[in-house]
Amino acid sequence: MSKVLIVYGSTTGNTETTAEYIASVFSDRGFDVTLKDAANASASEFGNGENALTLLGSSTWGDDEIELQDDFVPLFDDMDNVDLSGRKVAVFGCGDSSYTYFCGAVDAIEEKAEKQGASLVGDSLKIDGDPDRDEVCAWAGKVADAVQA
Ligand SMILES: Cc1cc2nc3c(=O)[nH]c(=O)nc-3n(C[C@H](O)[C@H](O)[C@H](O)COP(=O)(O)O)c2cc1C
Repeated sequence: MSKVLIVYGSTTGNTETTAEYIASVFSDRGFDVTLKDAANASASEFGNGENALTLLGSSTWGDDEIELQDDFVPLFDDMDNVDLSGRKVAVFGCGDSSYTYFCGAVDAIEEKAEKQGASLVGDSLKIDGDPDRDEVCAWAGKVADAVQA
């Protein structure tokens, strides 16, 4: 069974809920899913070759500059030491389009994952406001299709 790792950083629960919706899609597709709060994860796990896909999610904070969700910050910093060559990564997060950098954390994680050698699977998912189950599941289904193809 293909393994999938999902790591999320969430302060008020929106990105956590999004991660749970994504996990349900991959479980339904027969993947062996590990869902982790960023507070309990380490960046070295992102490079684990046993995972067919790693999904990384963070909400965005800050006003004048992009800040990742608190629990995701140490993982983001540690990603500099992780080789993601050959690893498939998809990125998601919740934000608010009234801020200057809408879902800036998603862009920052994408950029860092690519810098470390990862292949990004599909377009990242940026959620404006509360996550909509149908929107999230449709995105996750497309990502799963791309991994299974
Ligand atoms: C002080 C503050 C700063 C924020 N800054 C941003 C931002 O720069 N960009 C953005 O897209 N959303 C921003 N947001 C919105 C949050 O990312 C949004 O509420 C999100 O749903 C929180 O997700 P979480 O519950 O998973 O932490 C900010 C919210 C607050 C309260």
